[in-house]
Amino acid sequence: MLRMIFIFSAIAILYFPGTPLGPAAVEAQQQITQKQAKLPPGRRIYMGRQIAQTMHYTGAPWLIRENRENEERCSLMLSNLGVKTGMTICDMGCGNGFYSLQLAKMVGPAGTILAVDVQPQMLQLLRTRVESEAIENVTPILGSFHNPHLPKNSVDFILMVDVYHELSHPEVMLNYMRESLKEDGQIVLLEYREEDPKVPIKPLHKMSKKQILKEYESNGFQLTKEFDKLPWQHMMFFGKDPNWKNESSK
Ligand SMILES: C[S@@+](CC[C@H](N)C(=O)[O-])C[C@H]1O[C@@H](n2cnc3c(N)ncnc32)[C@H](O)[C@@H]1O
Repeated sequence: MLRMIFIFSAIAILYFPGTPLGPAAVEAQQQITQKQAKLPPGRRIYMGRQIAQTMHYTGAPWLIRENRENEERCSLMLSNLGVKTGMTICDMGCGNGFYSLQLAKMVGPAGTILAVDVQPQMLQLLRTRVESEAIENVTPILGSFHNPHLPKNSVDFILMVDVYHELSHPEVMLNYMRESLKEDGQIVLLEYREEDPKVPIKPLHKMSKKQILKEYESNGFQLTKEFDKLPWQHMMFFGKDPNWKNESSK
């Protein structure tokens, strides 16, 4: 029976990527992904920083709270992202799609949003919201903790809002993200400011600019732009460093 559910859900995912899956199929999909992924052990500490626990899907309503715009000025962030119609944008760690849905409208029908998350339940919440707004250009992708399963050389922006500090395999993920970006593609990183004690977020879920730069520069990225006018978050743009040599691939 379990075998049949595996086969059914694999076919459903391949042929109907936008179709909402029932709980049994979602569970089966998760098991297949975990098995195929042969997950290497995650880190607890990376370059002196303690990695935070993944936000559980039961906390998803917080991501679409009414006050989020007032607190984080999300629309100011979006208007400074540099989105153009027709772009391919990855919303990495999309959660229930707070940003995916808005980005889908910004890139228009010729553009695509690749919405990646490791929790199938988050993707299910995203699918429900996408369908209720009849949006057709969002592709949900179930990532594994060390591999976002993105196509290579095809993404204009990877937006990571309040996600990077949770990655249990930061350098492996950064390497995959690097491969998925077009030559001039950028990662746009948003993290709550550790330097600012007034930002009302737990310390483990904040990052300092210094730490971000240390981690990104060690993984083949260079800072190309910053936007410092958000009330709580750093917003930092990283492009590929052309002179970087991946020591681990030597
Ligand atoms: C705090 S939520 C942020 C959601 C969304 N970016 C937003 O701002 O509304 C962090 C999300 O990152 C996801 N996440 C954690 N590790 C991940 C990984 N390795 N790959 C993809 N998503 C991941 C979690 O499952 C969770 O949904």
